[in-house]
Amino acid sequence: MSDPILVVHGGAWAIPDDLVEAHLEGIEAALAAGWDALNAGASALEAVEQAVVVMEDHEAFDAGRGSFLNSDGRVQLDALMMCGATLRAGGVGCVERIRNPIRAARKVLEQSPHVYLVGPGAERFAAEHGAPLCENSEFIIPREVARLREYQQKTESERSEQLFSAAQDVDTVGAVALDRAGNLAAATSTGGTLNKTPGRVGDSSLIGCGCYADNQAAAVSTTGWGEPIMKLVLGKWASDRVASGVDPAHAAADAIAYLKRRLDGHGGIILLDARGHFGIAHNTPRMAWGTATAGGHARGIQRTAAPLG
Ligand code: GLY
Repeated sequence: MSDPILVVHGGAWAIPDDLVEAHLEGIEAALAAGWDALNAGASALEAVEQAVVVMEDHEAFDAGRGSFLNSDGRVQLDALMMCGATLRAGGVGCVERIRNPIRAARKVLEQSPHVYLVGPGAERFAAEHGAPLCENSEFIIPREVARLREYQQKTESERSEQLFSAAQDVDTVGAVALDRAGNLAAATSTGGTLNKTPGRVGDSSLIGCGCYADNQAAAVSTTGWGEPIMKLVLGKWASDRVASGVDPAHAAADAIAYLKRRLDGHGGIILLDARGHFGIAHNTPRMAWGTATAGGHARGIQRTAAPLG
């Protein structure tokens, strides 16, 4: 028997002052949903799904409704879920009509022989397995239409300066959990990067990049600028360090330092091992995070990269 724990994040970027309260409120709601399940004896998979669904439905985050728009002004979503006990994983990429991509990811994990489905095939699979579809317009909100318009009015050099800055708009959500049975799970969901090329897939739904879970190592979810995270397979890199004996708090800080040092990348990470030790680190101005244990819930909008947990 393990003491259950849930750790969530709502993106690492320069979260504007006027969105801070909404992020904290969304984190609290995600913690409540995930913790209610975990505390009632549900699996870690169920807890991370419940937590991420709340953030996909919350307009503050770049996941589900409220996501950043691609260069065509549409929402394209990616999500992945992984089970630390079995190493089964399920992901969806470039989906435009699945109301909650993380629910579809779980169905891929549990009800298909595959790990990853994309585009219309993923949408068809989701519908056939009971994950509701919706119109793409239902994901689009005025705040994001204005954000895209402003971005597309920038010059090429202003855009590339923003891309390489820690203030770049990337706001993926994720959750990691340890259940009473001692099993880990991880889930990550995103609308990706602002003005992305249609068809672009980021780190979030790629196994070992934005999401990974192994009971013998750790559960991890990353957020931030996806391309550098993919090139470093950062989630697996961090969980391998935990497997080799590094505490998750140090491994999380090491991962973000490696991301910066090797590719000048920016982002954040949550990491949890099967003892319930966790780490949270980021090198962006802000990162929305939360934790839930039997001792209570904690949340915040900023955390230093110093070892914690
Ligand atoms: N980390 C989200 C993305 O780059 O798509």
